This record gives sequence, C-alpha cells and structure tokens, in this order.
Amino acid sequence: MEPFSLHPDGLLLDQLTGADLQLIALYCSDPVFEQFMTTPWPYSLADAESFVGEYVPAAWANGSEWTWAIRPGAGGELLGVISLRLPSGMIGFWLGAPHRGSGIMSAATEAVVGAAFTRTPLQAVKWEAHVGNIASLRTARRAGFSYTGEHPGAILGRDGNAVQSWTAEIQHSSHDLQALEWPA
Ligand SMILES: CC(C)(COP(=O)(O)OP(=O)(O)OC[C@H]1O[C@@H](n2cnc3c(N)ncnc32)[C@H](O)[C@@H]1OP(=O)(O)O)[C@@H](O)C(=O)NCCC(=O)NCCS
Repeated sequence: MEPFSLHPDGLLLDQLTGADLQLIALYCSDPVFEQFMTTPWPYSLADAESFVGEYVPAAWANGSEWTWAIRPGAGGELLGVISLRLPSGMIGFWLGAPHRGSGIMSAATEAVVGAAFTRTPLQAVKWEAHVGNIASLRTARRAGFSYTGEHPGAILGRDGNAVQSWTAEIQHSSHDLQALEWPA
C-alpha cells in the first residue's frame, strides 16, 4: 500500500521523516509511555531510527499497519503518531506531552476511522488501553467509540503477557454492537 495523507480540521496526517527522530525519542521517553505503551523502554534515538526507517515503511508496504505523523500542517513540527493495524483494525496513538489536552487526538482518530471504513473492508475499528489510561479512554469516547468491557488486551505487554485492558470499538454500521457504560 502506498502511504496516503489525511486532513482533519487544522491537522495534517502524513509520513514520518528523519527530521522527526529527535522529537520521537524525546516524546517516547515520557514516563507515561513506560506505564501505558508497549514502545521500547527506555527509548533511544536508535529506536526512533528503526521505527521511521524500517518498521513504518515495511508495514505500509506489506499492508500490516498504516502509520501517520500528526502535524499542524505541511512541514509542521511533529505533534504525535497514530496508526491502524490491519487486518485487526486496532488503532493506536500518542501525542507529545506539550500537545495534549486540546482535542488533537480525537480529531485524528476520527479521520483514521473514516479512512478505515472507506479504504478497507473493515466492519469495526478497535481500541484498547491498559486499565487506568483515562486520557486514552476519553479520547476514544470523544471520537465516537462504544465501550465493550475490560479484557486481557490483544496487544501483549513488554513482558509478553496480556495486559488487562479497557476495550472499545466503532462499527461501520452499529446495529448489533452490545455497548456498555464507559467506566470513567
Ligand atoms: C492518550 C492521549 C493521546 C490523549 O491525548 P489528549 O490530548 O489528552 O486528547 P484529547 O485532547 O483529544 O482529549 C481527550 C479527552 O481526554 C481528557 N484527558 C486528557 N488527559 C487526561 C488525564 N490525564 N486525565 C483525565 N482526562 C484526560 C481530555 O480532557 C478529553 O476529555 P473530554 O473529551 O471530556 O474533553 C495522550 O494523553 C497521550 O499521548 N498519552 C500517552 C500515550 C498513550 O497513552 N497513548 C494511548 C495508548 S492506548
């Protein structure tokens, strides 16, 4: 699959470049990543280099994951990263700490969900977060996801074990989804 860009209001979702490496390494060293993410810990510049130079282009090429840089516009600084794994339809995202709390990720998530439903046969986009990741949960809720309960997560933790996770999904047509009350 050839990478494509998305244009939610006030944002540009495009490709990561070598110019983003320092910021990726800085943002992914936030202690909240150790707690809630499965990114390498501690996170080094070499991790950013292999992510941007190898993992992301290989995953676009083999269709296993679409990953975008989130920017304020063309040539703008990196705000965060969002991705969609295929064929599972699992969304994942993070923002650099200075850019949180202004609705950026909910808007980016809505754009990625739209792309999933227009460009793939997916019937549902899924989200999960380690129990306690309230910022992520609120982002999913604000982006229109429906809560589906607390389960061992599909994405394994750094130790290779499943992590108890809040789960939600958004369906292309939501007639048969058993939505539950959001926990927080
Ligand atoms: C998850 C994350 C991307 C959310 O970013 P954000 O900028 O807060 O997102 P938004 O601005 O769209 O806010 C979404 C909601 O979360 C709320 N929120 C943000 N941080 C919060 C916190 N620490 N505690 C409680 N609520 C929080 C916002 O107020 C907003 O709520 P609202 O819809 O009721 O107004 C960001 O916190 C992050 O990058 N965290 C570290 C990486 C991570 O955990 N990624 C997700 C892994 S599943």
